[in-house]
Amino acid sequence: ESSTEVDVSAIEPGQAIKAIFRKQPLFVRRLTDKEIAEANAVNISSLRDPQTLAERTKEGHQDLLVTMGVCTHLGCVPLGAAEGENKGEFGGYFCPCHGSHYDTAARIRKGPAPLNLQVPEYEFTSDTVITVG
Ligand code: FES
Repeated sequence: ESSTEVDVSAIEPGQAIKAIFRKQPLFVRRLTDKEIAEANAVNISSLRDPQTLAERTKEGHQDLLVTMGVCTHLGCVPLGAAEGENKGEFGGYFCPCHGSHYDTAARIRKGPAPLNLQVPEYEFTSDTVITVG
């Protein structure tokens, strides 16, 4: 088992970076206030994989969304982490392989994927660094 350190200090609201964790893509995204509000406005019981944004982030760091960049349908890498990429109908991530749309909390909202993008085990090891795994 290996862990991955990511310095998140340079990620501005609305931006994301891609890293690698255990040979798979990892997305680390700083949400804007609007994206947080959109995530928190959703009726959780309407979701295919019901989770709140708070459950998918760390306390005091609700703006930092850390997920695997692996679609839960058949494992393609969703778009939306890089500038200018299609974020899908719900403003989060879009998997072009078969059309799965994820929202700003990376929860599945439309398309064939059964589950939200996975949030890996991680912790803040300082105010600006997370250790994944
Ligand atoms: Fe993403 Fe099928 S692999 S929608």
